[in-house]
Amino acid sequence: TQVGLIFGGNSSEYEVSITSAGNIYKAIDKDKFDVHPIWITNAGYMTSEEDSFKVLEDPSYMVEKPSKAANLSNIAALADRPELDVLFPIVHGNLGEDGVLQGLFRLIDKPFVGVDVLAASVTMDKEFSKILAQRVGVPVAKWVTIKRYEYDDAQNPKHDYQWVSQQLGTNNLFVKPSNQGSSVGITHVVDDSNYADALAEAFKYDDKVLVEEGIVGTEVETAVLGNDQPIVSGVGQIINAANSWYDYDNKYSNASTTTLQIPAQIPDEVAQKVRDNALKIYRVTECSGMARIDSMLREDGEVIFNELNTLPGFTNISMYPKLFEEAGISYSDLITKLIDLAME
Ligand code: DAL
Ligand code: MG
Repeated sequence: TQVGLIFGGNSSEYEVSITSAGNIYKAIDKDKFDVHPIWITNAGYMTSEEDSFKVLEDPSYMVEKPSKAANLSNIAALADRPELDVLFPIVHGNLGEDGVLQGLFRLIDKPFVGVDVLAASVTMDKEFSKILAQRVGVPVAKWVTIKRYEYDDAQNPKHDYQWVSQQLGTNNLFVKPSNQGSSVGITHVVDDSNYADALAEAFKYDDKVLVEEGIVGTEVETAVLGNDQPIVSGVGQIINAANSWYDYDNKYSNASTTTLQIPAQIPDEVAQKVRDNALKIYRVTECSGMARIDSMLREDGEVIFNELNTLPGFTNISMYPKLFEEAGISYSDLITKLIDLAME
């Protein structure tokens, strides 16, 4: 089977994607699959297979950056690769995980790993994900949505930290771009001093921003795999020695004080709740292939859904492959299953 492994891309999670792809390339069963790496530069330009192999070997390898104009999507040239049987996109974030790339795959009529257009779009949007979670009775943090036109209106009460805090019933807030991954653009706000900056930062990434009630507790994550009969892994927990939240540096930096606890040291009935909620959300959002579902375990034991990632990180410290390893599915078998699911 000829697999096109697509990675990189014009998003703030570009580097994460290169790392994920490198790990997938190392682990994929080379007796079963011939891998054709397809590197999309940070300017959104698809490169040659030769360059793609080079960047997998050495992530610092860079061809000359094409101009923005080149961005007008030579990616559509994927249509001219009849030798590829299936595509494996590991392009995290905007344009890769939000249905845009999946739309192209549908246009060129190629099977691909992971969710289809609808699930990709609704789950990339944190507001729609929450609305759907509520629809199946899964608790979510309270939030206030701010659209760009409201942000542009200086008189709008959503500019007022006190007003927003009152709506949410707490001073402990997270300001987030609605469509974004790896915690990019998110700020923790506990008083008036950085609220305006937090909004400005989040609006750099999106035209819609959520201000959420901060949940006091720890993050728990679970992994789902499958199409109509999905399986759910055990639960992993994010433990932070410095008691800070799981931001970009804590996710990926070597100096991170964060560790993953697998399985989470939580009561069985709580773990079961996390898994039940994950499955409900997977189904209501019409996911297929895979997703990692992230929740907060609040101090009182309540499980609060946070967000869903349909192309979760596959770095060697990432939760998704580790959760399945713990469940007895090796990294390599997991990749085989994902490709088989795509071709079902
Ligand atoms: N968005 C990153 C890759 C993750 O959630 O794992
Ligand atoms: Mg998360």
